[in-house]
Amino acid sequence: MTLKELQQNTYAKNIIDSTEVDSVLSIALHKNLEYLYKHPDKKISLGTQKKFAKLIKLRLQNWPVAYLRKNKDFFGLNFIVNKHTLIPRPDSELLVEEALKFLNNSALRAELESTKILDMGTGSGCLIISLAKNSQAKFFASDIKKAALKVARLNARKHQVKITFYLSNLFKKIPEQKFTLILANLPYLNKDQMREPSISREPKSALFSQNNGLKHYEKFLQQVKNYLAEKYLILLEIDPQQSEAIKTLSKKYLPESQVDILPDINKLDRVVKISLG
Ligand SMILES: C[S@@+](CC[C@H](N)C(=O)[O-])C[C@H]1O[C@@H](n2cnc3c(N)ncnc32)[C@H](O)[C@@H]1O
Repeated sequence: MTLKELQQNTYAKNIIDSTEVDSVLSIALHKNLEYLYKHPDKKISLGTQKKFAKLIKLRLQNWPVAYLRKNKDFFGLNFIVNKHTLIPRPDSELLVEEALKFLNNSALRAELESTKILDMGTGSGCLIISLAKNSQAKFFASDIKKAALKVARLNARKHQVKITFYLSNLFKKIPEQKFTLILANLPYLNKDQMREPSISREPKSALFSQNNGLKHYEKFLQQVKNYLAEKYLILLEIDPQQSEAIKTLSKKYLPESQVDILPDINKLDRVVKISLG
């Protein structure tokens, strides 16, 4: 069977959309999408056909393409992912963009090399590694899951950046020190949102938070004070409907700070910016 025949047969079954068929086919072949368009007459071995069928089956069981491919692009970089890590989302690039704006601020530039940055709930490490590739500071990251940290370490090695990792439930095991910038994309979905089939294969521990999605951020805000430098910026990724609640919590635990909400490209509240100085 040729590549084109396999492709067309699968399109005709109408079980997943054609762009996903192409993605899965490119994974089975270990080639990029361009290869599919350039080599329609390539003979596909029985072994590859079987592998393709197995991958399609997994996709139909809601396994995301990124897990099948074992990697995902984020902020122009490629990250290893597996079932223990959340798949990096384009929305989260806003956290990196805001962090870079802050670090490029002229007042901070002179002391950048001694500036400490923490990424809490690092998962694949996509946020802190993107920052480390684009700025010069001291980089730290933490996660409650050993298996996620293993992937983050692999990604740090892949991208040749130095990051100090902590295995910690929020700040519990992080030695006390002062961070100028803290990013966190902690779990923030509520029970109803967890019913969405497209996220069913991602770790619940990376997505779900009690108290209507607010429990992790409330605990984080309760604990963060001792870890903040004199002047600081905290960037939190949220669900759009949480902006008022998080604003209130930020004011409760860090009353001296300024709190702003930033929209994502769809004009939905996505990032909370808590700052002082
Ligand atoms: C939404 S994912 C974000 C992953 C990654 N930062 C990203 O943006 O793609 C949340 C991460 O927080 C971690 N996490 C959950 N509860 C935590 C806790 N109590 N303390 C530290 N990390 C936690 C999860 O293991 C998961 O890796």
